[in-house]
Amino acid sequence: MDQFKSKVAPADGKLAVLLPGMGAVATTFIAGVEAVKAGLGKPIGSLTQMAHVRLGKRSEKRWAMIKDLVPLARLEDLVFGGWDPIPDDAYTAAAKAKVLSPEHLAQLQHTLSKIRPMPAVFDKNVVKRLEGANVKKGTRRELTNQLIQDIRGFMDKSKCSRAVMVWCASTEAYQEPGPEHQSIAAFEKALDADHPNIYPSQLYAYAAIMSGVPYMNGAPNMSCDFPALVELAEKRGVAIGGKDFKTGQTLMKTIIAPGLKARMLGMEGWFSTNILGNRDGEVLDDPANFKTKEVSKLSVLEQMLEPERYPDLYRNLQHKVSIHYYKPRGDNKEGWDNIDIVGWMGYPMQIKVNFLCRDSILAAPIVLDLALFGDLAARSGMKGIQEWLSFYFKSPQHAASVYPEHDLFVQKVRLENNLRYLVGEELINYLGSDYTNE
Ligand SMILES: NC(=O)c1ccc[n+]([C@@H]2O[C@H](COP(=O)([O-])OP(=O)(O)OC[C@H]3O[C@@H](n4cnc5c(N)ncnc54)[C@H](O)[C@@H]3O)[C@@H](O)[C@H]2O)c1
Repeated sequence: MDQFKSKVAPADGKLAVLLPGMGAVATTFIAGVEAVKAGLGKPIGSLTQMAHVRLGKRSEKRWAMIKDLVPLARLEDLVFGGWDPIPDDAYTAAAKAKVLSPEHLAQLQHTLSKIRPMPAVFDKNVVKRLEGANVKKGTRRELTNQLIQDIRGFMDKSKCSRAVMVWCASTEAYQEPGPEHQSIAAFEKALDADHPNIYPSQLYAYAAIMSGVPYMNGAPNMSCDFPALVELAEKRGVAIGGKDFKTGQTLMKTIIAPGLKARMLGMEGWFSTNILGNRDGEVLDDPANFKTKEVSKLSVLEQMLEPERYPDLYRNLQHKVSIHYYKPRGDNKEGWDNIDIVGWMGYPMQIKVNFLCRDSILAAPIVLDLALFGDLAARSGMKGIQEWLSFYFKSPQHAASVYPEHDLFVQKVRLENNLRYLVGEELINYLGSDYTNE
């Protein structure tokens, strides 16, 4: 046991949490952490802060909070920084995002207004619906070097011993990997040639990996999920993960669909539509950016239901997803789902879900957990794609040889077993034969 325990380096010193994109999600996350620290709120939705994990056999009656089981950075040791083409400080950006109430924000104004974004690497060709003046200049190679300097400079200034980066910026236009994404050599050649196919999020990811900083991608765009950066992360021993925070409608899908499939109920269709009025919704109103989100959302059901293995149940499944930008709704997205299911002897039934959710309220605890678990991975010597963090993503990044795991409950078992493994606790397989055979 102790042999494993010693593998995880302690979380000594401060941790820089670096956020490309300081909009609704990022500021709700920062404000929430500050609120928890000040005793103004609870970190609801965060496993690292609230969840217990069972240890050993059921008869042992042993449980531990995740934050006591593995050495995680403490909230008091987090220092927030980031980049954004819009120069607003975190208080102003949070006030504009209108996720948190003015009363809540007023209590945090002093702390939030001190957090100002560094000039961003931004390309309007990739996010057409945004304007911003707080932008770096230079070729892609120069921009990458500036980001590497920013990371180092921020860590020095704020006296951080470690850093982690979580992409919370706008969804970039849809892109398939090109020849320049296939190897480290091709990618670096494209950087030197200032190739337009290298998008900003890929420069942040590259800068993070080159700096030894774990990188997690919260948006659906291609950022660290292509051969060149997977190879680089492996080579430099850095943890990476993504992509697209699993929040509202897709979270519901990965809760409901595995349940229906477990009972061998059929499905003919799943129709999902949303209205959303925040800046994310505005960016996604551009077809090139929506395509990125659509691909991420659509893959989920097919993968979980396996129509090839269960043709009688899912052969005719029609899956539709749409997002409509509707300003009055702000960050409080409303989603409607109609699920046409099929039972005994082919009799049809319907399930309707009307989810009145708050996008950034659901995303903020994911940012916290990814930052803390990304840092844990680094201190545990875990490198490359962190599949055990699939729990948090709509399109979990996975090894080329396997398919992604979408089922939320399988993902949870995997995450918990990974934590048990790190500290030398017995892995739990739920066989239970010890009690039943006694
Ligand atoms: N909230 C959710 O439930 C949820 C779920 C899954 C994914 N996401 C993704 O998270 C991201 C953030 O969502 P949000 O609601 O905070 O959006 P937002 O528009 O409020 O914030 C995004 C911020 O990123 C900035 N930005 C754009 N390009 C940038 C760049 N190149 N470098 C640095 N900053 C840049 C924008 O100026 C903006 O301030 C989006 O991509 C969204 O699709 C959100």
